[in-house]
Amino acid sequence: MKLVVCKNYDEVSAKAAEYFINLVKAKPNAVLGLATGSSPIGMYKLMIADHEQNGTSYKDVKTYNLDEYVGLDGSNNQSYHYFMNENLFKGLDIPLENTHVPSGIGNHDTLAAEYDAVLDELGGADLQILGIGSNGHIAFNEPGTSFASTTHIVDLTEETIQDNARFFDSIDDVPRESVTMGIASIMKAKKIVLIATSAHKAEAIKGMIEGPVTEDLPASILQQHPDVVVIVDTEAASLLD
Ligand code: F6R
Repeated sequence: MKLVVCKNYDEVSAKAAEYFINLVKAKPNAVLGLATGSSPIGMYKLMIADHEQNGTSYKDVKTYNLDEYVGLDGSNNQSYHYFMNENLFKGLDIPLENTHVPSGIGNHDTLAAEYDAVLDELGGADLQILGIGSNGHIAFNEPGTSFASTTHIVDLTEETIQDNARFFDSIDDVPRESVTMGIASIMKAKKIVLIATSAHKAEAIKGMIEGPVTEDLPASILQQHPDVVVIVDTEAASLLD
């Protein structure tokens, strides 16, 4: 794992955006693995700014996202589908049919298999952006998830529900389930950039980098990936040896 420690969120965002922009310039038909949450918003703004100012084109890029809440459709403003449209896709020239977010609506038993079929068709991402939960989750793979997992439906932990409540009017509105790519699927990405900021993430970052590789801290599997860049601010790095 390569570690990059930055001063703050803006620097983390700039560094991460650089990886994505350089890839798309070098490989205009790249497959990008994308995430939601607060961490990548700054990076997405910079990708849009670069597209507007320098004309970097996404018309042949394909994307897939990590996860979606079960029960929310893409028109719901709390859905991850909506988030992606608002925070990234509508600012780029990417055709919406090239973008893929798991559906949270439909037959509970087939949602996961349907998304795995999409992922198989696209192949692994050239570059995957990841955030990390304060409990070490990646996507919605909570502690205890098998490293061999493919797309599946999960019950969110109380910790994740509380972390995500800030995006909702009340904690009762936070969905209790999500459909998420599994760890084995995430590990298929050729290159992974994981970003994290704030002291709230410091323990998870320490466990991920310095701790044992264990299903109790899902992100620790990244120690076994051949090409991971971890970009953090000084607070998230504060517990590292
Ligand atoms: C989002 C996702 C989650 C977040 C993680 C960190 O698609 O998969 O694993 O990356 O919960 O969230 P933020 O960035 O909001 O701290």
